[in-house]
Amino acid sequence: MGIRIAVLASGRGSNLVAIMHSIAEGKIDGEIAVVLSDKEEAKALEHAKNAGIAAYHVNPKAYDTKEAYEKELLRIIGEADCQLICLAGYMRILSPYFISQAHCPVMNIHPALLPAFPGLHGQRQALEYGAKVAGCTVHFVDEGMDSGAIILQKVVPVLDNDTEDTLSARILEQEHKAYSEAIQLFAQGRLEVCGRIVKVKGE
Ligand code: GAR
Repeated sequence: MGIRIAVLASGRGSNLVAIMHSIAEGKIDGEIAVVLSDKEEAKALEHAKNAGIAAYHVNPKAYDTKEAYEKELLRIIGEADCQLICLAGYMRILSPYFISQAHCPVMNIHPALLPAFPGLHGQRQALEYGAKVAGCTVHFVDEGMDSGAIILQKVVPVLDNDTEDTLSARILEQEHKAYSEAIQLFAQGRLEVCGRIVKVKGE
């Protein structure tokens, strides 16, 4: 059976699809119980529905406060009985309220080698900075922005003729592998968190 996962996404949903594929291939001991999006037009919702997964648009504008909006997200996640929340291209910052009230860990994937280049457009930031390597980071979410304990990272080269698009595509390919690997380590109970340090048991 494995763990039940909630995925929060705002857009294209390629990381969601990669997780769905990993589950189908038996590379993750778990299932996606629910997909939530702040954007009605998010392709992620469509991908989930096509796969028969419960998928909801929860409109932040329909709530008086951020806390009320996040309470609704947590209610749905709670009802779906999830053991892990995965942010996959979810473009809102979760408030400390959400993090403290969530009954399970929250993971995020970021398209840069944190702590370098947090926030928006990690790939563009790396290119403009002149970094020679870039990559992605899967981390637990804490109350800061892209600041939680790092689970795993994958590195790609930055090439002289890279554009934001070519670099983003090279990183995205690694994101799809990294997220599934991190989720499976969690599902297997192999992640040991000690402050900022995440150790992988049996490595
Ligand atoms: C991914 O590159 C992900 O790392 C990034 O948004 C993209 C979503 O793509 N997330 C962030 O920048 C979070 N700060 P997807 O919708 O195809 O998975």
